[in-house]
Amino acid sequence: MTFFVRTASRNDLEAISSLLGETWHATYDAIYGPEKVSEITTSWHSVKALETRLTRPESEFIVADDAERIGGVAFAASSDPERKLVMLHQLYVHPDLQGQGIGTALLEEVIAAFPDATTIRLEVEEANSGAVEFYRAHGFEAIGRTEDCGGDSGIPAAVYERRLSA
Ligand SMILES: CC(C)(COP(=O)(O)OP(=O)(O)OC[C@H]1O[C@@H](n2cnc3c(N)ncnc32)[C@H](O)[C@@H]1OP(=O)(O)O)[C@@H](O)C(=O)NCCC(=O)NCCS
Repeated sequence: MTFFVRTASRNDLEAISSLLGETWHATYDAIYGPEKVSEITTSWHSVKALETRLTRPESEFIVADDAERIGGVAFAASSDPERKLVMLHQLYVHPDLQGQGIGTALLEEVIAAFPDATTIRLEVEEANSGAVEFYRAHGFEAIGRTEDCGGDSGIPAAVYERRLSA
């Protein structure tokens, strides 16, 4: 199946919510425990929570779609007026579809959506070695740590950045 990257719409929110729930359990149950994962994913990835992204200014909310299912999702936003710094808030590919280039396609589209950006930054769980490898392979370097991944989780994470040639 060929996946194409496109902008997410209201009709996708239910499918994105399910994808994030499944992928979060597959990725983080062994690290945080299934109960903590359920708690976070129920709150962060409800359709209502995801809906706020549709109207967020200076943001890019995209999915990879093969006309039958949504295989991956990415959400990035810039909070500075000149759009120099982009935060990649989320990049998730369904466990059945990982390693086929979907994550790379989503990341490339996010970068292309912010042509004035000089830096892209993200937070990643250090025990999530697959994701760490993915970001390193795509030119990201560790620049520090946060004690509160995502802003309100109380979970520590590594902060990675990549310079962009804007
Ligand atoms: C990380 C993720 C977004 C990458 O997307 P993807 O579609 O699987 O990645 P791609 O196929 O585009 O790229 C594959 C490359 O990523 C790296 N990679 C991805 N998963 C890996 C793993 N489990 N172990 C080691 N390297 C991995 C490798 O460099 C790989 O290159 P290779 O195929 O030449 O070995 C995806 O695997 C995913 O959603 N993982 C679970 C959720 C997650 O951790 N998201 C990021 C949270 S911050």
